[in-house]
Amino acid sequence: MILLIISLYQIFPAPASLLYPLNDLKTIMIKQEALYSGKAKTVFKTDNTDKFIMEFRNSLTAFDGKKKSEARGKGYYNAQISQTLFKFLEEKGIKTHFDHMLSDTEMVVDAVEIVLIEVIVRNIAAGSITKKYPFKTGDKLNPPIIIFDYKSDEFGDPMINDDMALAMGLATKAELEEIRKLSLKINSILVEYLAGKNLLLPDFKLEFGRRKGNIVLADEISCDTCRFWDRTTGESLDKDVFRFDKGDLVAAYREVAKRIVPGIKL
Ligand SMILES: Nc1ncnc2c1ncn2[C@@H]1O[C@H](COP(=O)(O)OP(=O)(O)O)[C@@H](O)[C@H]1O
Ligand SMILES: [Mg+2]
Repeated sequence: MILLIISLYQIFPAPASLLYPLNDLKTIMIKQEALYSGKAKTVFKTDNTDKFIMEFRNSLTAFDGKKKSEARGKGYYNAQISQTLFKFLEEKGIKTHFDHMLSDTEMVVDAVEIVLIEVIVRNIAAGSITKKYPFKTGDKLNPPIIIFDYKSDEFGDPMINDDMALAMGLATKAELEEIRKLSLKINSILVEYLAGKNLLLPDFKLEFGRRKGNIVLADEISCDTCRFWDRTTGESLDKDVFRFDKGDLVAAYREVAKRIVPGIKL
C-alpha cells in the first residue's frame, strides 16, 4: 500500500502539503507495552528492538520520592527542552540516544543499556552540596565538580567514587574516563549556549548508556534534571520551584522553553 502511494506521488507530483505525510513515514512505529515507568517518564518497547519511546509525563517527585505532585504541561515543556538540547549537542559532536519526536511529549530514542551512575555536574553551589560541604549557595565552583551517584532508589542514590563503581561492576575504567570527559564537554557546551539565553546552569544530572560498544548520552536534559537560574534576577526556573514551593512550576518551565525552543507553542 505504501509503495503504491509512493509511486502515485511520483507519477502525479503533489503540492508540498500533501507530501508531508510521506516525510513523516519514519514516525510510523508501533508502541508496545511499557518496559519501565519511572518517576517522571515511561519507557515503551516498540516493534523495532533498537528503539524505545520515552513519554514525558506530568508527574513530579522530589526528595527521593517523598514529595509528589502532578503539573499539567510539565511533560510537554520538558520533552521540548530535552529534544532541543539533544539536537544542539548532536550538532556539537556529542552522541545522544535522541532519534526523533513522535508527538509533543513522546521521544523516540535508541534503546541503550543504562549505566547505573548519575553524573552530577556542578558549576555554582546550590542544594545538597551547601548542606554537606562548606559551600554557600551561589559560590562559583572552579573547576566544575563532577560527582558520581549510584543510580538506585533502594539505596537513595549514594555518592560513589571510581573504585566503588569498579567494585560494583557499574562501568569499566575506560567507560568512567569517557563519561567524565563527555560530561565536562557537555557542560562547557551547555553553559555557553545557555548564557546566550540569559540563563545560568548551576548544576545538572546526566545519564549515559551503552550502545554498540559506545557510551552515549541518554535520558533527559530538562527543568527536572537541571538547575536553571535567570542570569539577571537569579530566579529559579527549574524543579526547585516545586521542591521549595517558590511559585508556579509550569510558568517557570514555560519560560525556559520560551527562551530555548525555537517556535515553541506556549
Ligand atoms: N535510551 C534509553 N534506553 C533505556 N532506558 C533509558 C533510556 N533513556 C533513559 N532510560 C531510563 O528510563 C527511565 C526514565 O524514566 P524516569 O522517570 O526518569 O525514571 P527514574 O525514576 O528511574 O528516574 C530512567 O530509569 C532512565 O535511566
Ligand atoms: Mg529520571
